[in-house]
Amino acid sequence: MLVVKNLTKSFNSPSGKVTALNDVSLSIKTGEFASIIGKSGSGKSTLLSMLGALDVPTSGSIDVDDIDIAKLSEHKQTSYRAKQIGFVFQHYNLIPNLSALQNVMLALEFGGTPARLRKGRAAQLLSDVGIDEDQQMRKPSRLSGGQQQRVAIARALANHPAIILADEPTGNLDSETGQKIFDLLHDLSRSENTTIIAVTHDMDIAGKTDRTFILKDGKITTK
Ligand SMILES: Nc1ncnc2c1ncn2[C@@H]1O[C@H](COP(=O)(O)OP(=O)(O)OP(=O)(O)O)[C@@H](O)[C@H]1O
Ligand SMILES: [Mg+2]
Repeated sequence: MLVVKNLTKSFNSPSGKVTALNDVSLSIKTGEFASIIGKSGSGKSTLLSMLGALDVPTSGSIDVDDIDIAKLSEHKQTSYRAKQIGFVFQHYNLIPNLSALQNVMLALEFGGTPARLRKGRAAQLLSDVGIDEDQQMRKPSRLSGGQQQRVAIARALANHPAIILADEPTGNLDSETGQKIFDLLHDLSRSENTTIIAVTHDMDIAGKTDRTFILKDGKITTK
């Protein structure tokens, strides 16, 4: 269970204070697939970075299974990110000079999987998301956008995260490929009971998630 209470985040910019999140409260059950929609600048990416402990809130709390992640030590936050969270981004963020297989193996290394188990597990994860043996050996630049996003999802799943945070995971894909990536995430949330929180601009996709949060000027409403 993820419980966010009175979360506020402001940034100091040259033109004054920007309140990116303004008193946001929400809760998401384990295994739920939630979407977040809202205009550019409404605070969507800021909210995901708070949930992933990539940045600290100005005030408020983020309880993941009753532990406030904003109050963890830096060391524990790093461990939370590596083991509990899988990130998927619009631009995939794969390491360009590593093969698909090596990208996933690296995530396993960060998560503490013993060296002798990494290759087999990475190959299995990639094959589960539809990346075949030949594609596994290729660098990201030699894969299509949809294939790169599958690799990014396999990497996000590497350490059995409790939560997957996805920032416009289908934003760079045509609608058919985007739908397939979405279906893949949906199947995961069902089969692994993984909580998925995905930012999207695609109303068709948002409409198919368990629930949708709408951000407007840093404030949240539920649909
Ligand atoms: N590091 C920062 N410093 C200053 N202002 C920031 C910072 N990060 C975000 N902001 C501001 O906070 C607000 C919310 O930004 P955020 O990136 O969360 O929006 P978004 O909803 O993800 O937009 P988009 O759909 O364009 O990705 C914006 O006004 C943005 O300019
Ligand atoms: Mg954003």
